[in-house]
Amino acid sequence: MRVLVTGGAGYIGSHTVLSLLEKGHVPVVVDNLSNSSVESLNRVTEITGKPIEFHNIDLCDEEAFPSFMREQTFDAILHFAGFKAVGESVANPLKYYKNNIGSTLSLLKAIDATTSTNPPKVIFSSSATVYGSSTELPLTESSKTGEGITNPYGFTKFVCERILADTAEANSAFQAIALRYFNPIGAHESGRIGENPSGIPNNLAPYITQVASGKLSELSVFGDDYDTADGTGVRDYIHVMDVAEGHVAALSLTESGFHAINLGTGKGTSVIELIKAFEKVVGAPVPFSVSPRRPGDIAACYADTSLAKQLLGWSSTRYISEACADAWRWQSQNPKGY
Ligand code: NAD
Ligand code: WQD
Repeated sequence: MRVLVTGGAGYIGSHTVLSLLEKGHVPVVVDNLSNSSVESLNRVTEITGKPIEFHNIDLCDEEAFPSFMREQTFDAILHFAGFKAVGESVANPLKYYKNNIGSTLSLLKAIDATTSTNPPKVIFSSSATVYGSSTELPLTESSKTGEGITNPYGFTKFVCERILADTAEANSAFQAIALRYFNPIGAHESGRIGENPSGIPNNLAPYITQVASGKLSELSVFGDDYDTADGTGVRDYIHVMDVAEGHVAALSLTESGFHAINLGTGKGTSVIELIKAFEKVVGAPVPFSVSPRRPGDIAACYADTSLAKQLLGWSSTRYISEACADAWRWQSQNPKGY
């Protein structure tokens, strides 16, 4: 398939471009490099031996993006482009509503999603954050969404899902899939591509690898008084290559309409367990101290993975230990990122 990959130079996008190439698809990347470097794609080419068509375009650019789309045809679109820093979205909500919702609207307009008789399917990067304060565990796709979302970033995912669902409702020829990622971590096993956060990482795994490498001095564990086995927060950490392969599997789903599908492992891991898993691969202790809970955090969150298995024939295949080893290989071989 000829596949448009928006945000394809980013963390999850670049790993997915690699998976697409491995399966013989033809990815075309559109990214404005606002949170990435084109070096990620150079390295994917180095790994696969295949060139990648890249266009530096902002999806919200009302001239350049529609004009690009008029010249192209795609069988499917993987829509990763968007901003993702939860804290920044609280400080600057309009930036997030504008870019994340604006880019999705711009994409749907460019493919005439409401009226076209043969629009390309859209596979959207959603997030477990849409489940908000739902406490049902494991989280299934029919668990409540929207209630208790504590930040604008999370709301943009909720709203974009709704936009896609309404559009699929209006046009039976349009298929949209929202893949709700749990917590993607790790890197490609080559150590050549990986997560490249700008500034101090917001997420646990890159924070741990930067402490382990000596770049940061100590990890703060946000709360050890949750109602979990060891008191620290529990999440469903999934290897980024499993997430990438989930997208390739979703290309084959033919049933029309809107589908929301969890991409997780189904297994919960606590902050302390993740620290221990990293210590094993690093071969040294990761210094940490306990600090107060982070506002907006929930105690535990992990996926029911049966729908992905049923609809996509996909389930995760990699262990947390592999994700930690691959993240560490990437961090230690690329201490300054790209
Ligand atoms: P990332 O920041 O590495 O990748 C996003 C890419 O989109 C970047 O390359 C950025 O330059 C590009 N981009 C942003 N706005 C754009 C625009 N208007 N036009 C063109 N390009 C634009 O993030 P990621 O971790 O790879 O996440 C990819 C997607 O998955 C995002 O939508 C994110 O919200 C979602 N997601 C990520 C996680 C996670 O933990 N990483 C979890 C759930 C969902
Ligand atoms: C994981 C656990 C923290 C950092 C976020 C977004 C979500 C999705 C994935 C994009 C929690 C604890 C963290 C630290 C810590 N992103 N922690 N010390 O919050 O589950 O999800 O990223 O869609 O939308 O909300 O991930 O990695 O930030 O935190 O103790 O320095 O690690 O409290 O229990 P989170 P995270």
